[in-house]
Amino acid sequence: MRNIAIFASGSGTNAENFARYFAHDDAVRISLVLSNRAAAGVHDRMKAFGIPSMTFSNESFQKGEEILKVLEEYHIDYIVLAGFMNKISEPLLKVFPDRIVNIHPALLPKFGGRGMYGMHVHEAVVAAKEKETGITIHYINEHYDEGTIIFQATCQVTPEDDAESVAQKVHALEYEYYPQVVRKLLVR
Ligand code: GAR
Repeated sequence: MRNIAIFASGSGTNAENFARYFAHDDAVRISLVLSNRAAAGVHDRMKAFGIPSMTFSNESFQKGEEILKVLEEYHIDYIVLAGFMNKISEPLLKVFPDRIVNIHPALLPKFGGRGMYGMHVHEAVVAAKEKETGITIHYINEHYDEGTIIFQATCQVTPEDDAESVAQKVHALEYEYYPQVVRKLLVR
């Protein structure tokens, strides 16, 4: 059994989608959710699946020590970022090299980098009058949104779209592809 920890800061719809996707999987389990926000919606979403979720301070995430201890206790093999709005620190990268993946709600290298997260990304896509956008699943390295790209999928942006409707299209791609791409990385 491979154990995944999800890191999430927000509503947690992707985390919930993972929990559902892997609920009856005999090779991969969502064992734990970590957040830097006690008020994040993800905590409530995990209750229905019986998946423990915990909150740690930004400082803990940066120091790494406390987090690494918890990840070891739960025998975590892999870290999945799902709307995690905090930088992954050096100690975590060292212990989990090539074992931390992120999803970005646009086609990197476009619309990436500091400040480009959540709705800000979709607003920028609409303002730039892009004809398409999509998702990028990538490994994490020490720079924002610059790790090796694993997978991308696209959707159309029409002149009628606003940031909200683009977000919906992008979320649909996230739900369809993110869990299955992660499973392929873990179970070969
Ligand atoms: C997702 O769209 C994810 O791609 C994005 O945050 C959203 C979280 O939604 N991540 C980033 O912007 C990372 N730079 P969720 O909490 O409902 O899963």
